[in-house]
Amino acid sequence: MKPVIALTKGRLEKQFLEFFRSLGYNDQALIDKGRKLRVDTDDFQFVFAKGPDVATYVEHGIADLGIVGEDILLEFQPDVFDLLPLPFGKCRVALATEEGTQWPARKRRIASKYPNITKEYFRQKGESVDIFKLEGSVELAPILGLADAIVDIVETGTTLEENGLVIKEEIHQISARCIANRSSLKIKRALLNPVIQSFQKGETVS
Ligand code: PRP
Repeated sequence: MKPVIALTKGRLEKQFLEFFRSLGYNDQALIDKGRKLRVDTDDFQFVFAKGPDVATYVEHGIADLGIVGEDILLEFQPDVFDLLPLPFGKCRVALATEEGTQWPARKRRIASKYPNITKEYFRQKGESVDIFKLEGSVELAPILGLADAIVDIVETGTTLEENGLVIKEEIHQISARCIANRSSLKIKRALLNPVIQSFQKGETVS
């Protein structure tokens, strides 16, 4: 039996591959996967999904382990074991506005893919805001006049810069995390421990 790992598609997937290879695992099947969503390597079965769905598959025991951005854990609070930080996927969740924007005194409008993180951030500040949930390209919202600011992921800062936005405040520093199904950790301990130990020893990849 191989451990099942749910892997977030996209940027994290690329960084994970580099990390995985650096640990000495054979990643050829992952490189050759094409559009397949389930792939077996010598040591694991991988399933590929969007971040929130990775958390769902791990929570329900379909996958034993998951590779997911910490933003997903903060936003959705899935019932999983948050095992360890991984040395990639480092970015920030930040509040950003258009450069030179006057921060309005009236009720502020915030656009975000992360309504719960946004709500919690302004709750702690004691401010009431209107939150607009968007699915992506959140940087458009202030430009088009939907919102006064956004709460979003900033990695290189290029998307903000190229759209004339600046960080007003950093809310969280985040990285990729390895999460685990709570029962798998107990029942499949012998199978999962060597993997977890190898992930712990992994070094930073870009
Ligand atoms: C994320 C995030 C920003 C961008 C930040 O979006 O929501 O838009 O990356 O990265 P940067 O600081 O390196 O420019 P993603 O590319 O995941 O797509 P999306 O906007 O469709 O969610």
